[in-house]
Amino acid sequence: MEIRRTGTQGPGQGKKRRIMTTYITTPIYYVNALPHLGHAYTTIVTDTYCRFRRLCGDDVRFQTGTDEHGEKIAQAAEAEGVSPREYADRISEEFRRTWPLLAVEPDHFIRTTDPVHVRTVQDILRRVHDQGDIYFSEYTGLYCQGCERFLTEKELVGGKCPDHLQAPREISEQNYFFRMSRYQGWLIDHIRENPEFITPERYRNEVLSFLGEPLEDLCISRPKARLTWGIPLPFDDNFVTYVWFDALINYLTGIGYPDDPDFRRYWKAAEHVIAKDILKPHAIYWPTMLKAMGLQPYRRLHVHGYWNVEETKMSKSIGNVVRPGELVERYGADTVRYFVLREMSFGLDASFSTEAVIERRNSDLANDLGNLFARSLTMIGKYADGKIPEPDHLILTEADRELIGAVEEMTARYQEYMNDFQFQRALREIWKVISMMNRFIVTNAPWELAKSPGHYSRLMTVLYFLAESLRFIALVLQPVMPAAAAKMAAALGLTGEMEAATLSTAGKWGLLRPGTLISQGEQLFPRLDKAKKAEPPPRPQKQDGGKKKAAPPGKGLISFDQFGQIDLRVAEVTAAEKIAGSEKLLKLTVKAPEERVIVAGIAKHYEPEELVGRLALIVANLQPARIMGVTSQGMVLAARETDENGNEHLVLASVADRVRAGGKIS
Ligand code: MSP
Repeated sequence: MEIRRTGTQGPGQGKKRRIMTTYITTPIYYVNALPHLGHAYTTIVTDTYCRFRRLCGDDVRFQTGTDEHGEKIAQAAEAEGVSPREYADRISEEFRRTWPLLAVEPDHFIRTTDPVHVRTVQDILRRVHDQGDIYFSEYTGLYCQGCERFLTEKELVGGKCPDHLQAPREISEQNYFFRMSRYQGWLIDHIRENPEFITPERYRNEVLSFLGEPLEDLCISRPKARLTWGIPLPFDDNFVTYVWFDALINYLTGIGYPDDPDFRRYWKAAEHVIAKDILKPHAIYWPTMLKAMGLQPYRRLHVHGYWNVEETKMSKSIGNVVRPGELVERYGADTVRYFVLREMSFGLDASFSTEAVIERRNSDLANDLGNLFARSLTMIGKYADGKIPEPDHLILTEADRELIGAVEEMTARYQEYMNDFQFQRALREIWKVISMMNRFIVTNAPWELAKSPGHYSRLMTVLYFLAESLRFIALVLQPVMPAAAAKMAAALGLTGEMEAATLSTAGKWGLLRPGTLISQGEQLFPRLDKAKKAEPPPRPQKQDGGKKKAAPPGKGLISFDQFGQIDLRVAEVTAAEKIAGSEKLLKLTVKAPEERVIVAGIAKHYEPEELVGRLALIVANLQPARIMGVTSQGMVLAARETDENGNEHLVLASVADRVRAGGKIS
């Protein structure tokens, strides 16, 4: 199915920068299972990379699809009492419908039952056979049905396939073989000469070590007597094509191999994304097949690890399979995309849990980014008439220059990391700037500047710096969270402009136009309630047991032990809001280091936005109390002062230097 869009190139390209092409693919997923978190991860990664390359100005083609032939599918269809075709149609449609829910927008969705694919596989088989690279022979081997391939003794763990935990069947039959061994030397050289061919490095090393042993030829047929659900071999009607030989070719047929101009345009720029389970077919079978066809190999293979669920392998029988549709319903596509990219270090395994998603959503998205965004826009609304203010570049402070430097450095590092599939690191760079901006607000205290007309120009500069930094954040977040980035851009008055933006056209400081009207729409990321509230851990009661008894304290004094029972800590305010119906109370969310809510009677003395990012001192083990409908888990310390007119002022107690949230006061 063709769902290509036109005009993928941003403005201003092609003048100086040569337009690069990128062709990026996911594996085509077997239709014997419904889409789950693992499929979603690979597909989100691929979509993110595709959007990133478009942001770089590249001409990109993104393909995904379904793998529909083979024993596994035939058996699943039989179990449901339907034909393989009907069965494949149904599940393939499930995959196709799932991706838009995650804001994944492929250009092409290929099915291995597409007639054009079937024809191309047969043409390739005929040619490779004619040139003598396919021969007929008898073979006895250990066949794992889960992998749909023969395994070597070495690959077994305790006699079983390590991926499918089943002992392979010994099969002896006559079949057709692809002379893979002929290309072993070439493949080793190619991998050695192209360090980026297989990444991360651990997988490259794994492949090289496997190639240290002589490579066997690849059995590429199945007798029809055993399996009919496959592409018939064009030179022997008694056999169908082995599913991997059929499946890998999807990467070519999807771009119109051999004659379509798209094939010439995109194949040289092919990058495949897979998980470690299908490393061997992609790193060994596929390049050697391409070599036999006289084609250049793909440019890069990106291999990621496996998602477990709460440290356990995801499996239908355990009943812990995570469905992307349900995740999107609960958290929204942006949060799911951010979570998986931030949580998994590409190449390593990661563990999914609902708590972890909620934690990321509340802490990174609602607190750090969402509050920063809301606070900045509120202040522009309040102090600059809701328009992007005019900065005064003549009065830049050291902190201003530092912020520009940090934004520019982040943009550069982001590009390197995204290009290397180090999404986690790219996101960390962005969040460093977000933290810096939160501190920038606290140190510049716009609410103080607003009190004196003499500081007007400085106030406008500070607000411009916030808005302009946020524009950068929206720009670089676009590939990861397209909807949130679009909302941010729209709020900054950039509707329409961001979609066409590239990093080279829009990644320069100072492009936000003063006078542009902003709009303070809805919250970017409303906080989510934790399924189970984490109560602060109960404090162990101190026992005197055996210790020397201290002298009883004098009148008005407390003993050292009594003092020791008060859990005083440094807490970072991550969110602050007024409590409806109260003039005095603010609801503060703090990190100490676990997250908790504290109600503080300081609303007359502080605006909520000036508190976020500050360090406060709290009593952490005070009995929780319900105040105006909010459960307060502790108390914030403040100094009380009465001025000459008898007005009371509260000043938050804090520490002189920046320290870690949660640090003990003793
Ligand atoms: N049909 C073959 C691929 C042919 S490509 C020419 C196949 N299909 S599959 O449905 O089993 O998909 C395997 C892929 O799904 C993995 O390589 C990975 O991209 C994704 N994942 C499936 N389970 C996964 C996890 N638990 N964790 C991460 N990704 C995993 O193999």
